[in-house]
Amino acid sequence: MDISDRLRQLEQAAKGELSGAESADLLEQIRVRYLGKKGELTAVLRGLKDLSVDERKTIGGLANRIKTDLEQLIVERREDLTAVSSKDAAPDYTLPGRPCYFGHRHLITIVMDEIIGIFQRMGFEIADGPEIESDYYNFGALNFPPDHPARDEQDTFYVEGGLLLRTHTSPVQVREFEKRTPPVKIIAPGRVFRNEAVSARHYCVFHQVEGFYVDTRVTFGDLKGALEAFCFEFFQEGVKLRFRPSFFPFTEPSAEVDVQCFFCGGKGCPLCKYEGWLEILGCGMIDPAVFTAVGYDNDKYTGYAFGMGVERIAQLKYQVNDIRLVYDNDIRFIRQFR
Ligand code: PHE
Repeated sequence: MDISDRLRQLEQAAKGELSGAESADLLEQIRVRYLGKKGELTAVLRGLKDLSVDERKTIGGLANRIKTDLEQLIVERREDLTAVSSKDAAPDYTLPGRPCYFGHRHLITIVMDEIIGIFQRMGFEIADGPEIESDYYNFGALNFPPDHPARDEQDTFYVEGGLLLRTHTSPVQVREFEKRTPPVKIIAPGRVFRNEAVSARHYCVFHQVEGFYVDTRVTFGDLKGALEAFCFEFFQEGVKLRFRPSFFPFTEPSAEVDVQCFFCGGKGCPLCKYEGWLEILGCGMIDPAVFTAVGYDNDKYTGYAFGMGVERIAQLKYQVNDIRLVYDNDIRFIRQFR
């Protein structure tokens, strides 16, 4: 009997046995007998090397075809067998249900709402303004000189028509002053944009809450009192504040405010980078140039303004060491804050 007849004989025999196999064990035994290392078909395949080149081609092709057919058949039979056995099994009603999650506010919305709530209880109204701004509201009316570095394209996203994405919420000051006469006591929460390299501390989009109060006798003491009240409520009662002299074109004098690190109590730790203090906002008394731009009488009115970064104080309060986590939308992170 020549080799191809022998091969076909093996194929017939194997197919017959496979179609009659009624258990996975039997299937496996048959597979090993024909296709295993010492299997009958494997032996034929091994013998191919002793044949002439021509024979090797035709017989090799046939043997490989049979091998693939049989493998395929085994897979199908195995599926048939398991389908039968799971159809016969009773459904298991004790299996756990599929999980269903409740939606909730995002960390940033939670912190934003908390900040807004605190200032509302201190008598502040809420206002908002457009995210796409003109150079005038974002810079000009706020006393930025024409060559100020903040206008640089490295910081500001410019859009068509000479407009830009606001780089801070301070333009809302100007828009509200134009619409109202003092007393004006407002907070303006919203999104701002800066063309900065994304890192653990910086993101190209973030949120600020702007606050401003203008009336006939507003002083730096009122500013300190308001910020202290806010920090007692938001961080913890009695937390220490530090006002450092600073500069903003639209406030004079200006300050940056730090809270004493509530994690280490000011001793120095990784959260405060061993400084004992954490910077949380910029503030100051509104510059007369801003009042002039909006037509307020500088002899009659004074006012303060402040602006805080929401992500920044959310990161501090909840000890989130990388701002990118806040925006990655990984549900395992987001669900920790509800
Ligand atoms: N607009 C300033 C900033 O984005 C913050 C600020 C607001 C400072 C109001 C003073 C007064 O850095």
